[in-house]
Amino acid sequence: MSRIFMFDAYGTLFDVHSAVARAGQGLGPLAEPVSQMWRAKQLEYTWTLSLMGKAGGEAADFAALTAAALDFVLARHGIADPALRKGLLAAYQRLDAYPDVLPLLEALKAGGHRAFIFTNGTRGMIEAAVEAAGLGPWLAGIVTVEAAGCFKPHPQVYAHAAREAGAGAPGEITFASSNRWDIAGAAACGWRAFWINRTGQPEEYPGFPPVSVRKGLAGLEGV
Ligand code: LAC
Repeated sequence: MSRIFMFDAYGTLFDVHSAVARAGQGLGPLAEPVSQMWRAKQLEYTWTLSLMGKAGGEAADFAALTAAALDFVLARHGIADPALRKGLLAAYQRLDAYPDVLPLLEALKAGGHRAFIFTNGTRGMIEAAVEAAGLGPWLAGIVTVEAAGCFKPHPQVYAHAAREAGAGAPGEITFASSNRWDIAGAAACGWRAFWINRTGQPEEYPGFPPVSVRKGLAGLEGV
């Protein structure tokens, strides 16, 4: 039976820290804290603007928030280097896909299943990353939150994604994300959510548990 698999993009399929690894040589020992704070600020802005009811549109899309987060982090560390900033943002368009991504997508397609990316990212950002990683041929589609006017984990965005994928009921969707808060959002909406705990994080959001926790994507076609 053909099934719907949905994948979060950033952190799950693509290594968000590969931008600094690739284009952040000038950061020296600040590479790790800058990369961690960049991601944390990017997410904070999505949550803040969603709560304010001001998410969406070009001024507050995920590309704009990613750039704003980087600007904050560079300023916070006293770094004024336009070339470094430009290089980091360009690298974010071509993030490394984790090595377990392509084998799983191939297995899903071979099994007759449909694989979608479901992301906060703008269509432009995510299409560039998919193209750079060569994932396009194995995907049934890309769903972004842009049409929903808010970011994950607002229930509207999971409902939007379920409609876009043609799911008859939320439980028909098998979802994988490395972001525990995204798993909580999906579980709260009735999706079958699998937490891809790539970095060995402790469990949280106990009221909204995943079906199971996995270290990577390998074998997900069998769940
Ligand atoms: C995404 C972010 C949340 O891809 O990782 O939606």
